[in-house]
Amino acid sequence: MERVHERVVEAQFGARAKAYVESAVHAQGADLEALERIVRDLRPEHALDLGAGGGHVSYLLAPHAGMVSAVDLSPDMLTAVAATAREKGLSNIETVPASAEHLPFDDGWFDFVASRYSAHHWRDLDDGLREARRVLKSGCRAVFIDACSPGPALLDTHLQAVELLRDTSHVRNYSASEWAAALTRSGFGVADYRTWRLRMDFPVWTARMSMPEANLRGIRVLQEAASAETKAYFAIEADGSFLLDILWIEAIAELPRR
Ligand SMILES: C[S@@+](CC[C@H](N)C(=O)[O-])C[C@H]1O[C@@H](n2cnc3c(N)ncnc32)[C@H](O)[C@@H]1O
Repeated sequence: MERVHERVVEAQFGARAKAYVESAVHAQGADLEALERIVRDLRPEHALDLGAGGGHVSYLLAPHAGMVSAVDLSPDMLTAVAATAREKGLSNIETVPASAEHLPFDDGWFDFVASRYSAHHWRDLDDGLREARRVLKSGCRAVFIDACSPGPALLDTHLQAVELLRDTSHVRNYSASEWAAALTRSGFGVADYRTWRLRMDFPVWTARMSMPEANLRGIRVLQEAASAETKAYFAIEADGSFLLDILWIEAIAELPRR
């Protein structure tokens, strides 16, 4: 059966909602601690978690925000988020099924936006960022965290191929310069950015997606056949574990130009 991209994403994640709620990689991290420090200071009235997945950003935002809107394409993910929020006693998280590219909120409704590990699935990064900018009040802050491309084509092609074999809803891990350009086009100013590397434990990383054996083999074939530079850059280990670049960008919604 042919499916539009959003249905491919929904099928990929809907079936794995529990795995994402329970995923240690998603539930922890220095980025979540940094995000918490920011919202503790900002105390937003309306905060948006864009591509909420298992809801880890929403749970972090909720104690410091008036209301948190957890937006995701996958209704099954959002059902898991709502149940987990109830278990945690967080009553100010609303779940909103929507795509990042078409947000059902008024202009300037939010005073904080966060999006973590989601943009690489979006059909169109610029459309999603323009919507994030539209619903964010001018002068307010957004934080985007995502796996990113190191840049050079030699490494970029390997990374995107491995990602697509693991998850057929993968669109692109953008490089830092692609992110900066897309944010500028969408009406954001880049206030700060940093990158770091996270070790993907191959058995855990692949099990979360419960992928077909052929795709798993395909990733291993690509890794084994990779050039010395590629193997060294990603620090590919004997079992397929490797280092993935992560990007954190803080952006400010600029005043519209006249
Ligand atoms: C890896 S999970 C997100 C993890 C989560 N934000 C966290 O920090 O743990 C990616 C999520 O993005 C959602 N997603 C992908 N494309 C989307 C889009 N265009 N609009 C909204 N959500 C999207 C998927 O349904 C999935 O739940």
